[in-house]
Amino acid sequence: MTRNSERIIEIVDKCFSEGDKMAPEDMLFSYRGILYPVTISSPQTLEALKSFEARSDDVILVGYPKSGTNWLEQMVKELADAKYTEEEMQERINAEKKLETFQRLEFGDPGIYEILVLVRNPKDTAVSYYHFCNNLPVMPSFASWDEFFADFMNGKLAWGSYFDHLVEWNKYIDNEKIMTISYEELKEDSILGMKKIASFFGFSLCEEDFSRIAKKTSFKAMKEKSSETHGQFGDILFRKGVVGNWRDVFSKAQNEEMDRKFQDSLGGTKMAAKIKYDVYCKA
Ligand code: A3P
Repeated sequence: MTRNSERIIEIVDKCFSEGDKMAPEDMLFSYRGILYPVTISSPQTLEALKSFEARSDDVILVGYPKSGTNWLEQMVKELADAKYTEEEMQERINAEKKLETFQRLEFGDPGIYEILVLVRNPKDTAVSYYHFCNNLPVMPSFASWDEFFADFMNGKLAWGSYFDHLVEWNKYIDNEKIMTISYEELKEDSILGMKKIASFFGFSLCEEDFSRIAKKTSFKAMKEKSSETHGQFGDILFRKGVVGNWRDVFSKAQNEEMDRKFQDSLGGTKMAAKIKYDVYCKA
């Protein structure tokens, strides 16, 4: 087990034992109008982001919850591992400092460091998030999908509104220090996706490296190792790993409401083109 896995499992165990004792109304706190889980974040951490100083070669990953951030994190770690020798890695980084995920650009100038933004279509994201809330003891659960859907649409969830998040990142979509990649394109061709990521970060790898990492980061492979890498969180995190699961869950009215909301918030933007709403979300 790596040091990073040990740390993840330690945090997960702490969250699970604290969550069991917590009333749902105590599980979230609000910071600048956005809700966060008390067991995962704190006002002090968010406040400290104001003075966060990344090094020029740090790697910053961004994603709304359930976009596949744990998958992307593993991929980028593997790509970075292939670039550096073991000794270089030991010397250079402390993995948890190098790789963190952020929701918003609250921590400074996007021109200083490279940021990889992961996006996923809103319908699959919502379904994934619903199961996550109902399975993770540190998140308030929902009596029904309909109840969750209403909160997803109005952004009354931990880490705020999916739509506001993408509207915010759309502002930076042309910034050369920021690259946006979608869950769906990684699913369609993970090797091509990884090549784009490697080129963005300046990692040079050979074909065999990409094939090896694609196998190692496949849903099946990551799920099989999940109890080792993520402890009791593994079964919750690695749920289905597919595109289009929303078709089993959304009602006709919910489909139409989501189509309108997406169009109103993001219609015609480069972010909408990246998400390929018409391909992945049309009923
Ligand atoms: P589902 O709930 O739809 O299965 P995050 O890491 O941001 O919390 O995202 C979790 C989602 O990413 C889950 O979606 C999970 O199954 C999916 N995921 C995790 N690892 C994956 C992988 N290797 N390949 C594809 N999807 C993966």
